[in-house]
Amino acid sequence: MTIITCIEDLRVLAQKRVPRMFYDYADAGSWTESTYRANTSDFSAIKFRQRVAVNLENRTLASTMAGQAVSMPVALAPTGLTGMQHADGEILAARAAEAFGVPFTLSTMSICSIEDVAAHTTKPFWFQLYVMKDREFINRLIDRAKAARCSALVLTLDLQVLGQRHKDIRNGLSAPPKPTLANLINLATKPRWCMGMLGTRRRSFGNIVGHATSVSDMSSLSSWTSQQFDLSLSWKDVEWIKQRWGGKLIIKGIMDAEDARHCVEAGADALIVSNHGGRQLDGADSSIGALPAIVEAVGKEIEVHMDGGIRSGQDVIKALALGAKGVYIGRPFLYGLGAMGEQGVTRCLEIIRNELDLTMAFCGLRDVALVDKNILLPGSYPQ
Ligand code: FNR
Repeated sequence: MTIITCIEDLRVLAQKRVPRMFYDYADAGSWTESTYRANTSDFSAIKFRQRVAVNLENRTLASTMAGQAVSMPVALAPTGLTGMQHADGEILAARAAEAFGVPFTLSTMSICSIEDVAAHTTKPFWFQLYVMKDREFINRLIDRAKAARCSALVLTLDLQVLGQRHKDIRNGLSAPPKPTLANLINLATKPRWCMGMLGTRRRSFGNIVGHATSVSDMSSLSSWTSQQFDLSLSWKDVEWIKQRWGGKLIIKGIMDAEDARHCVEAGADALIVSNHGGRQLDGADSSIGALPAIVEAVGKEIEVHMDGGIRSGQDVIKALALGAKGVYIGRPFLYGLGAMGEQGVTRCLEIIRNELDLTMAFCGLRDVALVDKNILLPGSYPQ
């Protein structure tokens, strides 16, 4: 039996079990991957102050994100084509998150549709929206998210154009997969893990059926993106979406204090400091590097969340210490899903929860709400 004690163990197992082109799709960053690497390495540079002889009884990680109660301030990030890591991946991840009491965010570009996920869960999940040119299509997606009782809309603004990932091009990643010899050999040796795309139930993007029929590979996905995604997007559109949705709005993809100010003016409930997990602007700052300036600029007016590079509970608490109200994990839960399905996502959340709880204790705290810069070694963190 494989022993899983950390997120890295899940990654290694996922790499063994998931066909290479699907694993690479999840694991890669754009171009030189410098921002992708910085997302994790910049966390390592931050140091804690260890405290002793403090009462550590009755610790709690319970918090809220965008007004919603969470068992710990960690949500699952929206990830497109999650069903490539495991058949029905979106449903399995949503169920694991629901059981754990943390938010699951369904991507516009998911394989399982909004209705599929709603039919297999009992509590509201969050829906992530990309802004397409076709406003009627956005209207329909918003109506479908409302009908499914989604309790927050996560509006992603950092993907008007698509960053290039060399591995996807080299692997000939397509949706659904193209039957090249290398792909067939790879898929045939790991069949059970890729049924989301190859199985009979779901073969393509569940939410955009009819809009993505022409997408056959990554280069056509890139040109489809530039055809469909709104290159003329402005903050006026964000205000329109806020009004049209009418519920909790979380704006994702903010790396600049001026853009954070626009989020406040647009009436968002929260923003996510995010560089899309290093998959878009290669050469941008790490998310943890960008967080303090944004908290400083708007933290008193709006909830600031972050994602990018979180691989442990230690990373979660560092982000909270620098002012994040909550964080999101992308690849860690995808590794869990690819390694062990729903059980793997649960294991991922357990690992992060245990690490977060123990690290909080080592720092001398009992309540996650009390985490602040005082737990960090001065001079070791970005200002
Ligand atoms: C993403 N991300 C993403 N974001 C989004 O708003 N909509 C999407 O459809 C996707 N798709 C997607 C696919 C895959 C495979 C990955 C890895 C990421 C970005 C995601 O929400 C989040 O910002 C990052 O994953 C956070 O970084 P970590 O936790 O993966 O390091």
